[in-house]
Amino acid sequence: MTPEQLMFLAKEAMGHAYAPYSGFYVGAALLCDDGTVYTGCNIENAAYSPTNCAERTAFFKAVYDGHRRFTDIAICGGKGGVITNLCTPCGVCRQVMGEFCGPDFRIHMTDSSGLVQTQTLAQLLPMGFFGGEHLL
Ligand code: THU
Repeated sequence: MTPEQLMFLAKEAMGHAYAPYSGFYVGAALLCDDGTVYTGCNIENAAYSPTNCAERTAFFKAVYDGHRRFTDIAICGGKGGVITNLCTPCGVCRQVMGEFCGPDFRIHMTDSSGLVQTQTLAQLLPMGFFGGEHLL
């Protein structure tokens, strides 16, 4: 699956967002190493901190179903579902990616141009704290 195809699914997932407080809709599409795709949206809460980002929704759905190896994620978001700027993953989501993904995991983002930009997890989370390395 190409980054553009994955982004198409992320855009569709954005329409599932429950974001009555921020009005910022986010969608994510996570590609497993066997080709399965899991989508996710942000799910907000009146108490704010229980809010779950789109990326973590996708990861948690996938892990629940038994998937633990991933190659790519596409992320998009915007106010009212209109994409303007790149929606980059928050720090908490980067840490969750670090739990299951290696440094070469690819993170695809897009803006109003429609072009897909890609960064690796190593680029977005340098010197991360990971269980396998630090909790021995
Ligand atoms: N959000 C995501 O779902 N993913 C991100 O990468 C950035 C932020 C959500 C959380 C909240 O519901 C809204 O966007 C505004 O922060």
